[in-house]
Amino acid sequence: MSSRAQQISRNMEIPGRKMHFEFDLKQLPRYWYDNNAFKSTYMNALSCLFPEGERMFIDAVRDNKDKVTDPKLLEQIKGFIKQEAIHGHEHHLFNEYLDSMGYPASKVEAFEKKEKRLMKKWIPAIDRLAVTCAVEHFTAIMAHDLLENPERSDGVDENFKQLWRWHAIEETEHKAVAFDVYQAVGGGYFRRVFNMLIVTIMFCLRASIVQGIFLWKDGNLFKPSTWIDGFKFYFGKGGLTRSIFKNYLDYYRPGFHPWDHDNREYLESWIAEAQSYKAV
Ligand SMILES: [Fe+2]
Ligand SMILES: [Fe+2]
Repeated sequence: MSSRAQQISRNMEIPGRKMHFEFDLKQLPRYWYDNNAFKSTYMNALSCLFPEGERMFIDAVRDNKDKVTDPKLLEQIKGFIKQEAIHGHEHHLFNEYLDSMGYPASKVEAFEKKEKRLMKKWIPAIDRLAVTCAVEHFTAIMAHDLLENPERSDGVDENFKQLWRWHAIEETEHKAVAFDVYQAVGGGYFRRVFNMLIVTIMFCLRASIVQGIFLWKDGNLFKPSTWIDGFKFYFGKGGLTRSIFKNYLDYYRPGFHPWDHDNREYLESWIAEAQSYKAV
């Protein structure tokens, strides 16, 4: 692990921001992402998985916190918990909108809640932390993709775009907190990468199943145009998989640290941009 990455991580401030986005979810069209059923239901599926997922991350970090002695990391843990709690709340509000559109978002959330309880009961805290590190890597590389390719969110309502950008920024700010806790409590390489393999399968499968249900609800699941859009979204020129794959693989490198990938420039430019809609 490079000492530069550790230094960046140590100096990172992680504030819990209360944001004020001025948009009315009732005004949001059903296919709010580029008027495209595939892209919109993909993001809707992610949103359904976020609230309980983010609560699970908070629990995993909290359940390992007692072994952390570094005051700076303890302070960052507080910021991480605040940020994830606020994200969970914002996504829950969005999921209520999905319910009002006839999507079974609250049922997905309820299922996730049960699973979270079972995980807490049966899976050791160190493994739940390794799962958290893996999902945080996913969110960090997807956040980076969104920040690096602003055209990715073309066709999204301007205010709604701000909400996704804010989430992407905070995922970047706190991308190493769970990882640093994992290192501090003695988590090893094999546990880390084994859990990443499991998370990759579970995350892709679960997001696809939830999205599939949403597409089916709208009668879009078996339309060839949906599958063509999906293929382009993942594998087309500039597609998501092609864009994040290299950063994804980096996680398997012994000695990897999330701040080996230094993308702090997005944090600085966003703080300037965000002044216009919220005092940061
Ligand atoms: Fe989050
Ligand atoms: Fe996160």
